[in-house]
Parts: sequence; structure tokens; C-alpha cells
Amino acid sequence: MLTGSGQKGDKVEMKKILEVLSEEMGKAFEAAGYEASLGRVTLSNRPDLCEYQCNGAMAGAKKYRKAPGVIAGEVAEKLADSRVFKEAAAVAPGFLNLKLSEQFLLEMVQAMTVEPKFGFEVPDRPKKIMIDYGGANVAKPLHVGHLRPAIIGESVKRICRYGGNECIGDVHLGDWGMPMGLVITEIQERQPDLVYFDPDYQGEYPVEAPFTVTDLEEIYPFASKKSKEDPEFKARAMEAVYRLQNGVRGYRALWRHIMDVSVADLKKNYDSLNVEFDLWKGESDVQDLIPEMVDYMKEGGYAYISEGALVVDVKEESDTREVPPCMILKSDGAALYNTTDLATIMERMKLYNPDEIIYITDKRQELYFEQVFRCARKTGLVKQETALKFLGHGTMNGSDGKPFKTRDGGVMRLENLVRETQEEMYRKIREGREMAPEEAVQVAETVAVSALKYGDLSNQASKDYIFDVDRFTSFEGDTGPYILYTIVRIKSILNKYREQGGRMDQLQLLEAGNDSEKALEMVLVQFNTMLQSAVEEIAPHKVCAFIYDLANAFNHFYHETKILSEEDSGRRESLIALLLLTRDVLETCVGLLGFQAPEKM
Ligand code: ARG
Repeated sequence: MLTGSGQKGDKVEMKKILEVLSEEMGKAFEAAGYEASLGRVTLSNRPDLCEYQCNGAMAGAKKYRKAPGVIAGEVAEKLADSRVFKEAAAVAPGFLNLKLSEQFLLEMVQAMTVEPKFGFEVPDRPKKIMIDYGGANVAKPLHVGHLRPAIIGESVKRICRYGGNECIGDVHLGDWGMPMGLVITEIQERQPDLVYFDPDYQGEYPVEAPFTVTDLEEIYPFASKKSKEDPEFKARAMEAVYRLQNGVRGYRALWRHIMDVSVADLKKNYDSLNVEFDLWKGESDVQDLIPEMVDYMKEGGYAYISEGALVVDVKEESDTREVPPCMILKSDGAALYNTTDLATIMERMKLYNPDEIIYITDKRQELYFEQVFRCARKTGLVKQETALKFLGHGTMNGSDGKPFKTRDGGVMRLENLVRETQEEMYRKIREGREMAPEEAVQVAETVAVSALKYGDLSNQASKDYIFDVDRFTSFEGDTGPYILYTIVRIKSILNKYREQGGRMDQLQLLEAGNDSEKALEMVLVQFNTMLQSAVEEIAPHKVCAFIYDLANAFNHFYHETKILSEEDSGRRESLIALLLLTRDVLETCVGLLGFQAPEKM
């Protein structure tokens, strides 16, 4: 499949369906003596009456001082021989109700089958986009709070990439702050004789970590709780952070172990969700850049001391809410979350020079990112034309409408949430069909990812949603498993067809033979428009809404249409070609959402 280059060659350019229809309608308005821009065509809001509609005559009535019905009637007349519209009816008080010509629709669908990316036009100049979306904190187990940024970010990355851009995903680990000090201090409590704590030790440090990931999972919450009850322990942990950050050898070596052990575990978790990062960078990677950045901000006259801390003002006149200054260094000289984020921007500009950086985190960090973005722009850390975007997501709630918790009220580990979803999926698969247990386990794993991801992505990212394992794993309704089930259904028809010796190449598409087939084609040809807005608006939920429509249209078509038992071989082949296209579009879309269909289910 062609990617990214934006080459057009000499093929017919595949335009967006609504643009083509509006163009045709605009010509009719013009021919009737009105302005072409009135010919904007939209999807019908009365699908029982028409497929598309145009309300331009209503808009033109005032301007031309004519009854809208008269204008609509004149325009409809000009469309009598249209090759695009089979029917253009002027209805009171002045709407144009439209039906597409099957032949024209066929041409659009045919173009989709031959063009790369189903005719989606990639931009001539791809953008370089960095996506910051993992946000896991090393030493702490991954919990459900990290589910959303991972799922949304992965999909945003895939959508932007498919849209013809160069995308770099960065996990941006929280690997440098207090949690590290806590873990190190607690390890010292338990194993004070470890060589890492011997200030006189000069030799090489052991290759093996003195703890496992299971140990770490126990140590962090234990130490975190202790620091809240024991100020002396907390002070020691802060001292440990200071030593680590100032390069004390043994502390650095121990930190390396914590990193290696945690990152291996994080990778396993992210893997189970098909989440892949191009970069495994973190806050620690930019520590050496901080002094340089601070000097730069001071010398440029941007940063000043306020109550001991180093800050940059970022409020603007048009602000309707209080935007506090961006703090660069605390009064004790320590770096903060802001500091690493700004230094990371500096590093990203140096190493990658992106056109755009998209941050995906909980929407409660919105004001924080607003400060960081303004500070980066004001101080010239980014170029004027570099876009900094924030996509804030809502919370995943439990059935009580409060942030999702375990049954005993604790923070749910991501691993357990994934496992519970897999178990429920397994139960439903075994319940509904004959499948060997081992196979069902495999299938449940694949389908569970769709349940979790679709359950999340089908909501607008900024909204909260309720995690409902029973609904998310259902084969019916607006769910991931329903979409996958539809893909599997298509695959199984295609397999049967192949087994019966049907040919798969040079299939000729014919005009739609019934309404449900036409309806399916009409959804298919919206792919381009949908993708364009998903890319522009950074909106995976648009892909979900589209494939839900597509799956519904397909299933309706499937119930209304004889496929394998169709006697006319030409028609049968045309139906197979339509199935192939539907399967490919669906599989592409689920790929953009970050999951895939099994062969059977
Ligand atoms: N580690 C952070 C957290 O758990 C999220 C990091 C998001 N990315 C960033 N560049 N600040 O809240």
C-alpha cells in the first residue's frame, strides 16, 4: 500500500463525496441563475424520504427575494439529466430531497477499490507530529488511570500516521521524582548492607537487580504510605532524590535497576493492549538540559525570582480565568514537573524539530499544559509555527459514577482490568459457540482488547464514561466485539466462497442491486470525509461512529441479500467484491483504533 508521499499520478482524483455532490448541486444553482455556493449538500436528516439533501433554496430566498419553493423547483429542473442524482425533488417549503444515481455511486466505490488508502488524499507535505501519551510512572504499577492516555494516544498516533504524517510516539515516563526516592530509601531500610549504599565503594555494581518487579510493586505503596506517617522517613526519601539527581553513583546504579525492572514490566502491559512507543524517554532524559534552559530563560529576561522561586509570567490580557506564572525552579532550586516538560520541549525541538506536539493526559492537567505551552512560546523554546496541542481525556468511572475502583475500593491495576475483561470475553465466547478452550482463550485475548478500546474510544475523549464489562464485551450493540464479529462474518463468507472454487481476482463491481446494498455503498463512500475529520479534530470516536454505521449497514445488507446462493455469476462476483472492500475498510479502521479481528470467533 502506498503511503505518505501525496503523489497524485494521473489517476482520477478521488474527492470527498459531499464535495462532489455539492459541486454538482452548485452547478445547478448557477445554471438556474443563483450563486453556486448555495448548493451545499448534506446527509439527509430524513433518511426515510431521501439520501441527501440541500437547503440552499431556503438560504437563497432572502437574497433573491423569491419564494424558496420556486428556487428549489428551478434548481431541480436543472438536475433532470444529472449523472450524479437519480432524483432531485423540490418539496415544500423549499428543500431539495436527493437520491444518488446507482451508476455514479458505483464509480465512487470502484475508485475506492483501486486507489491506495481507499482514495484518501494524503497531504502534499506531511507533518512531523510527536505524540506524548504514556505517562506511566516508573516503580508504580500501571493502574487504570493509565488506560485512557495509552488507548487514546495509540489511536491518535495511528490515525495521524495513516493521514499521511510522520508520527513519533513517546511514553514520557515519570522516572525522576519522589517515587524513586521512596523506593530507594525503603530498599535501604530492608537491605542496608547493599553495596549501593556504601559511599566508599569504587567497583562495578552488580548486573542483577536486588529485587524483582513483584518486590517493587509491594515496596512502592508501602514506602508511600510510610512517608505520610513518618516525617523522618520522608525527609530521608527527599535526601535520596537529591542524591540521585546529583549523580551519587550507587543511587544512580540502583535507579538503573528500578528502571530496567519496571520498564520490562510496563512493556509487557502495554503490549497486551497493542500499545507501542517509538521512544521510551522520560523525565530523567532531560535533566542535563535544565541548567542550560534556566540560564537561557534568565538571560532572555523571561524568568524572574518571585518569593524565592524562579518563574515566568504567562497570563494574557484576554484571560477569563487566573493563569498563574509558570514555575521553573522551586525556592530550594529543585526542578518540578514544569521544568522537565519545558526541557523536554527543548530537547524535542533540537532532536526532532516537530511541526506539532500533541499531549494526551487527564483533562485535569489542562491549565498546567496551558502554562507550559505559553511559557514555551513566550521564551522561544518552540518556533512560532510549531503547534502545541493538548487533548485532555475524561475519567473512566465505575457503575457508581465515581472513578473506577477495585471491589474493595483500591486502585485497580491495569493488568487485572485486562484480565477481568479477558475472562468475561472468554465466558461469552464459550457460552455462545462451539470452540475448543485453548482456541477460545486466544480469541478472547484478541477480542477483549477491542472491548476495552472501543468502549473507551467510542466516547469523545474529553467525556467521562462508565466502564461496564458486560456491555463492552457484548456481541450486540455499539461495541468492539460487534464490529469484530461483523468482520469475522465477512471473512467466513469469503472463505466459503473460496472453498466453493469462486475466483477472487478481477472481480467486476456492478450497480447496487437492492436498497440495502446501495445503503452499504453510501456508508463506504463516506470513509474519506470521516478520516479527514478524525485527523483534523484528533478524534478517534469518529472512526468508531463510522464503523458502527458500516457494520450495521453490512449486517442489514447481509440479511436482505443472497450472496453465495446468487445464481448470476456476475452479480455474485460483484457482491464478493463489495464484501472484500467492506472487510478491508473495517479492518483498516479497527487497525486505526489499535485492535484487530481474529479469524474466527
Ligand atoms: N507521568 C505523568 C502523570 O502520571 C503524566 C505525563 C504526561 N506527559 C507529560 N509530558 N507531562 O501524571
